[in-house]
Amino acid sequence: MPKNLNTNKKYIVVVGMGFVGLTLGLTLAESGHNVIGLEQNEISLKKLQNGNPHFYEKNLKKLLQKNLRKKRIKFLRKFIELKKFDINYFIIAVGTPIDRNKKVHLKTIFKISKEIFSLIKKKTIVILRSTVKIGTTRKIEKIFKSKKNKVNFAFCPERTIEGDALNELKYLPQIIGCENRNVRKNVNDLFLSITKNCVNLNTYEQAEMVKLIDNSYRDSIFSFSNQIAKMGELMGIDINESLLKANYKYPRNTLPKAGLVGGPCLTKDPHILMESLKNKVKLPIIKESRLNNESIPKFTIRLMKNNVKKNFKNALICGLTFKGMPENDDVRNSLSLNVIQELKINYKNINIDTLDPYLKNNYLKQSIKQHYNNFNQIKKKYDLIIIANNNKYWKTIKFKNFNKRIVSKGLLYDYWNTFENIKKKNYIVYGSGNLIKKL
Ligand SMILES: NC(=O)c1ccc[n+]([C@@H]2O[C@H](COP(=O)([O-])OP(=O)(O)OC[C@H]3O[C@@H](n4cnc5c(N)ncnc54)[C@H](O)[C@@H]3O)[C@@H](O)[C@H]2O)c1
Repeated sequence: MPKNLNTNKKYIVVVGMGFVGLTLGLTLAESGHNVIGLEQNEISLKKLQNGNPHFYEKNLKKLLQKNLRKKRIKFLRKFIELKKFDINYFIIAVGTPIDRNKKVHLKTIFKISKEIFSLIKKKTIVILRSTVKIGTTRKIEKIFKSKKNKVNFAFCPERTIEGDALNELKYLPQIIGCENRNVRKNVNDLFLSITKNCVNLNTYEQAEMVKLIDNSYRDSIFSFSNQIAKMGELMGIDINESLLKANYKYPRNTLPKAGLVGGPCLTKDPHILMESLKNKVKLPIIKESRLNNESIPKFTIRLMKNNVKKNFKNALICGLTFKGMPENDDVRNSLSLNVIQELKINYKNINIDTLDPYLKNNYLKQSIKQHYNNFNQIKKKYDLIIIANNNKYWKTIKFKNFNKRIVSKGLLYDYWNTFENIKKKNYIVYGSGNLIKKL
């Protein structure tokens, strides 16, 4: 635990209590720092103040309640309320969504930076944590530099995985982009109070690049498998098995399974990387990878329509969260939603039910007939069941139970090949990379 943190009452303010800000804020509090979480959304704020996180993350609720009890974290709404506190760090963790034209929204960060500026003292350090396009950190630094000559600034991106963030924050190396030696040392000390390693980069741009490279690379390897899966489907080759067997005891391959690639980061960060170059240079691998991953729902549903030649009337979509592992309740940019949209376009009057053990309520409201969070509640039979994410829950249901909920000559389309070795029965099972034929 950092020395005397509770006695000298210096505070770290984390601005934005979303997934990133809250997990980091609580990890800092747990290691002994005094943390203030600033959150503008009144509903989320009230929940946090009452010890109830507004999203699910493993162990989050327990950690929140413990740190509230120990008075190591508090939640406030407005910058003006911070005036009475002695703050040595500001960490900016607000969202940076992309719009319809795939342009990243940075206005909030600039607005917040101005608010922070009015509160900083000589030694206050400001850390930018949100994902930004390259060059943003330097622009923000200028806001501070314009009024004072010296600015204590660093860019330290978040790289945790949703569902295991509280664990990963304790061991993932922290990327630190800082251009001043003394400030860098302080920022290292701060992060070394929660993790064992820091990776230092000498410029902001290098650190910004690390974050965008990570996710663009990951997006591209999924896209590689998806492209191979598409190829197999078009050439009439059951290629899923080739993908799996290509990996078997062959150390030079780490091919992921083909499937739906969604979520708030992978769907966004490659676009931010491309936007950083203002289209001066084309980035065909990154661009095509992203477009290919985005195309999968349309591709598979059209293939289904053309090859299966059956007018599906009742469908069950299993898995709405953007991924099934690790456990999370995040539906942001989930391709399951695009699958539903494509079904509605291609099968007029289709009734769609959804099943997701992590979502208590019907997320899609009127467009979905019935939402279940437990398979045993389902009493109907469907002519189409789609397993859209890789939730471990599907295996606990067992294949034979899916069997009971599907009509004869129905189709089970299993995007992640959860039930890999199951062959045809009175209905047909296909997954990404398997052939879809006439039933
Ligand atoms: N979610 C992830 O897994 C993940 C992982 C790595 C990096 N990132 C990046 O981290 C950043 C934050 O991501 P997130 O998922 O936590 O975003 P989010 O949108 O879920 O959370 C941001 C929070 O900031 C609050 N906020 C916005 N403006 C505010 C203001 N002026 N004052 C106080 N609060 C304000 C919002 O109400 C919201 O609760 C993004 O840039 C994202 O790309 C996210």
